[in-house]
Amino acid sequence: MKEPHTPVLLKEVLHYFEGTLKTFFEGTVGAGGHASHILHQHPEIDLYMACDQDPHALEIAHKTLQPYEKKIRWFQGNFANLDRFAKEAHAEKVDGFLFDLGVSSMQLDQQERGFSFQKEAKLDMRMDVQQETSAHTIVNSWSLDQLIDLFKNGEEPFYRKAAKSIIDARRTGSIDTTTQLAKILERAIPKIGKIHPATLVFQALRMAVNRELEVIELALKKAMDLLSPTGKIGVISFHSLEDRIVKNIFRNASEPEKDFKGQTVKKALFERLTKKAVLPSKEEMRANPRSRSARFRVLAKLGF
Ligand SMILES: C[S@@+](CC[C@H](N)C(=O)[O-])C[C@H]1O[C@@H](n2cnc3c(N)ncnc32)[C@H](O)[C@@H]1O
Repeated sequence: MKEPHTPVLLKEVLHYFEGTLKTFFEGTVGAGGHASHILHQHPEIDLYMACDQDPHALEIAHKTLQPYEKKIRWFQGNFANLDRFAKEAHAEKVDGFLFDLGVSSMQLDQQERGFSFQKEAKLDMRMDVQQETSAHTIVNSWSLDQLIDLFKNGEEPFYRKAAKSIIDARRTGSIDTTTQLAKILERAIPKIGKIHPATLVFQALRMAVNRELEVIELALKKAMDLLSPTGKIGVISFHSLEDRIVKNIFRNASEPEKDFKGQTVKKALFERLTKKAVLPSKEEMRANPRSRSARFRVLAKLGF
């Protein structure tokens, strides 16, 4: 059967989660791609908490994970609430956490969700369709300075031009659709290489709509508190800004606390299993071009 979403870095994820797992929390279950393989490889799992903020993704995951239904507790919501979800499932400790960040290929393919500048749709980009703020809200109501900051943080080299072109276009009416916005950006931003001029602006909008960067730190801190001794947290990110956040949190957690003389006052409770991010193999990048920007990092809790 063709999987609705090809799980990225699957071999590597399974490798780092080798060992006994009883309780697992997946923050981004998506179509259930990683989940079905983890559940298959770990028959000892008795509780799999499957979370996603997208109700449509959960519907698909329900089907993919049907054989494991009895072990799964479903949570529709943001993984930043993982402490509340674990409490509801009566999980005091968790042996493994997986976060496969960002947008899924399923979401990109659903024209009406407005994630893609190549497909005509209302500007939306909400993963959680119950939330109020959409890309339409940001594009039509944020100030010039807010848009400049957003696109600058999103590493768009022509951030000022991009922001200004939106403000100028708003003078003649609202910007309602993906292709309308793509055309405005095409006129304002020079094309560099093969990448479409709207790519980074669309990505920055999506990350802001779904508060993607804000929730990573919150969730990882909560996951570290709930992790069992020898438990592991794995994060796959697709954007350098996400990866930087994960890298810094994991590095800080694995360093001992020192006093002003440089003497260790508290040993580190965690260890980085991946000092450098794990990247997809050449074969995987060829077979699944979406995997190209993936970076995988794993933190383990020490066993004392
Ligand atoms: C890359 S896909 C995950 C694919 C999944 N690992 C699989 O193999 O099928 C990312 C998923 O995470 C969800 N997501 C992203 N940020 C989230 C958040 N903060 N809380 C909950 N779900 C989130 C998206 O809705 C999307 O379905």
